Amino acid sequence: MNKETHVLERLPEGAAQDWTIPQDWDRYSQEDHNTWDTLFARQAKLLPGRASESYLRGLDVLKLSKPGIPDFEELSERLMKLTGWQVVAVPGLVPDAVFFDHMANRRFVAGNFIRRPDQLDYLQEPDVFHDVFGHVPMLADPVFADYLEAYGRGGLRALEHGSLKQLARLYWYTVEFGLVEEDAGLRIYGSGIVSSYSESRFALEDPSPNRIRFDMKRVMRTDYRIDDFQQNYFVIPGFEELLRQTVETDFAPLYAELATLPDIPIAEILPEDDVITHGTQAYAEAKAAG
Ligand code: PHE
Ligand code: FE
Repeated sequence: MNKETHVLERLPEGAAQDWTIPQDWDRYSQEDHNTWDTLFARQAKLLPGRASESYLRGLDVLKLSKPGIPDFEELSERLMKLTGWQVVAVPGLVPDAVFFDHMANRRFVAGNFIRRPDQLDYLQEPDVFHDVFGHVPMLADPVFADYLEAYGRGGLRALEHGSLKQLARLYWYTVEFGLVEEDAGLRIYGSGIVSSYSESRFALEDPSPNRIRFDMKRVMRTDYRIDDFQQNYFVIPGFEELLRQTVETDFAPLYAELATLPDIPIAEILPEDDVITHGTQAYAEAKAAG
């Protein structure tokens, strides 16, 4: 997921200077591999017709259906041939600059632990299922691969401008919870959605959330929630367009402008929004009412 909770402050013992650790694939138990297989089978059934073509192609070309938790070395070898990306293990949430530096160098940092069998549906910190099943298939798409590398460089720059909050919203509403409009219809590609049994359906089919066409500046002003299903999803017209807009815009003046504008509350719809679904927000309201 994102970098909200329990960020490691000091380099843990046994980690390299770049904060990576060996995946230690041999240390996974049979139960760990079974958890992966259970999660994989559930999502694999749900995603055709719901996930983006790019995502489904990635799942296929990276051979993620092979039983058991993927071995990062084997996975990186395939990914490297396709788009030059690698997957490296880290001991938890690493500091922002470390995270962005890896990304800017086409290394995707992934947690190496897997959730317990009683946590199949919810967990606070990104595990290997979220990180690998959720994120890595999109990295097999050359355009998305370029987007994430550019985002890494953008992250280092946002740190210098003190504008990480704004840039992080772009990550949240694209990489983690993005929807895309394809010829066949709306599809999910965000890792937080494709790796979630319940949100895969909620994001596309539930009448509660807003679905709004992507506007970069608008997204960078919009709050989000980390504790439950999103109340807004932003819909990009395609990955080329996302890459073009974000790379062609110099964010420095944008950050300065954003600093003068108010944040947009989570579920608010603005007059200038290009709305696909004006959500009922029934789900969030029922939750809030207890
Ligand atoms: N263009 C952005 C900047 O000037 C960098 C960026 C590219 C950010 C792609 C996000 C995604 O900082
Ligand atoms: Fe994530």
